[in-house]
This record gives sequence, structure tokens and C-alpha cells, in this order.
Amino acid sequence: MAVISPSMLSCDFANIQRDVEMINNSEADWFHIDVMDGVFVPNISFGFPVLAAMKKHSKKPMDVHLMIVNPDQYVSEFKKAGADMLTVHYEACTHLHRTIQLIKSEGMKAGVALNPHTPISVLEEILHELDLVLIMSVNPGFGGQKFITSAVEKVSKLKSIIKAKNLKAMIEVDGGVNLETGERLVKAGADALVAGSFVFGSENPLETIASLKKLS
Ligand code: DX5
Ligand code: ZN
Repeated sequence: MAVISPSMLSCDFANIQRDVEMINNSEADWFHIDVMDGVFVPNISFGFPVLAAMKKHSKKPMDVHLMIVNPDQYVSEFKKAGADMLTVHYEACTHLHRTIQLIKSEGMKAGVALNPHTPISVLEEILHELDLVLIMSVNPGFGGQKFITSAVEKVSKLKSIIKAKNLKAMIEVDGGVNLETGERLVKAGADALVAGSFVFGSENPLETIASLKKLS
């Protein structure tokens, strides 16, 4: 059974508390927060006060996906805002090892996200340090995009490396997840699925989350 992490990027921003409470009452395991700076990605989302407000009402771990340059500068602020897991982009970190140590020193789980064009081989020397690898199955920046199918192959490759080396890193996948793509990803070895528009754009988000949770 995969961890389900609904992405708040697709929630109703005029009803954030209601949507966080929906997640509290659902079978979701975490909730996913997309932070964008308009530099690393061509979009701007939300920052610390919004995260803190969501955290105040949430009963589930906050899974924060940073799509920003210079994440080191803000690691302790994200901890203060309530992040339990902090994922940075490989493509945005020159000194990735230092960034990962910094995240862990703040008591958070540390993750690295890979853009669709970035091979998993770049993680060879850091994989053993990670709690999470986030495979992007869309180009980051927007919800509601089409699933990039090569992500499935990436997941199964990464899964065999993690198994062979007996490592702890979980594989999370983000972008274009629905029942069909979700099933392929879980079969390939994904441990966690992020879903934004599929959950919040559905008529019954509680049932949609439950149906993702049933995938095997
Ligand atoms: C995109 C974000 C995703 C986004 C996914 O940059 O990282 O988390 O919310 O949205 P869907 O599930 O609609 O593709
Ligand atoms: Zn995300």
C-alpha cells in the first residue's frame, strides 16, 4: 500500500482549513506542499505564513517540496513553519550533500527531487543519506499536467538499486498521478504518490484518496 500525499497546490485557497480537515478525515498519509519561487520554476505559489496556517489545522505529516534556488537559506524557516519532510531539487543545489545534512540537523526527513530529464545515476553518492527520492513525472511548476511515462521506468530502476543496497530511501512520485498512472507506479515500486488535481478536482476527494490508497 502506497503512502498518499494530496498536493495542496490544487486545494481551494479560499477554503484551506476545510481542505486540510478533509485530508485529516481521509485515508491520506501525508499532505504535500509545493513551494515555488518564480526563479527555479516559472510560477510562484506560497510561503511560510501559509504553511504555518495549514500546519495549525493538520493532523498529518507535512511533506514539503521546494522548487526554489538557494534552499539552504530557508531550511530552518521551513522547520519553524511545520515541515516534517523537506525535499530539495537536485538541479537547484550545488552543494547537495551540505543541504541534506542541514535538513537532517534540523530534525526533518531529507528528500531530493529529480526533474524528468535528470537521470537517477546522479544520486549514486548520496542515495544512502536520503529518506526520500521524489521522481517528477511532470516538469515542476504547475498542477494538472500530463504524466511523463518515462517516470515508471525510473521508479523501477531506482527501486532495484535501493533494494540491492538495502537502503531506506522511499520513492515518491509527483505529477499527473491518477488511478491509471498510480497503478503503474505502485507496480514499478513507488512507495508514495502525490496527487493534486486528481484529488481536488474530483467530486468526492475522500473517495478519490481511498481509491488511490487501494492501488497495489
Ligand atoms: C508540480 C507540483 C505537484 C503538483 C502536482 O510542480 O510539484 O505537486 O501539485 O499536480 P497534479 O497532481 O495535478 O499533477
Ligand atoms: Zn510537488
